[in-house]
Amino acid sequence: MSGVEKILVHVRVNGEPREALVEPRTLLVELLREHFNLTGTHIGCDTTYCGACTVLLNGRTTKSCTMFAPMAEGGEIITVEGLSKDGELHPVQQAFAECHGLQCGFCTPGLLLSTVHLLSKTRKPSEKEIRKGIAGNTCRCTGYQNILKAVRAAAAEMGKS
Ligand code: FES
Ligand code: FES
Repeated sequence: MSGVEKILVHVRVNGEPREALVEPRTLLVELLREHFNLTGTHIGCDTTYCGACTVLLNGRTTKSCTMFAPMAEGGEIITVEGLSKDGELHPVQQAFAECHGLQCGFCTPGLLLSTVHLLSKTRKPSEKEIRKGIAGNTCRCTGYQNILKAVRAAAAEMGKS
């Protein structure tokens, strides 16, 4: 659209400084997907319901379809692409793979980040805390049992260190 003044947004994404010139109405999820080509962050509903767009912003889970990109100025963002290190899956990713915590995988990036956030707060979450921790993430395929199993397995693994 012409005539709209663009805004230069600076963020750190997965440890790297990034910037983009965007229209003020650009959503954070659009910044990630369309400007930075980080397409692991999904758009499932666009109404703050499903959690497929969940990322960590300054250490907190954030539904990136619900925030304008300029609001993240100066922020530190972790997306699913930032979880593995040196070719090794993050323990949460490993647990989801081993416990078959996904089917189509559309919800998975958001669930992984919600789980990483939960386990950053408590290494030994109760069943209630696990369910609350992923309550903002909807899965349409799995029936949740293997997702819960994966979160418990990740907690057990990460609790060893
Ligand atoms: S796409 Fe953001 S909550 Fe569904
Ligand atoms: S695995 Fe398909 S939506 Fe969750």
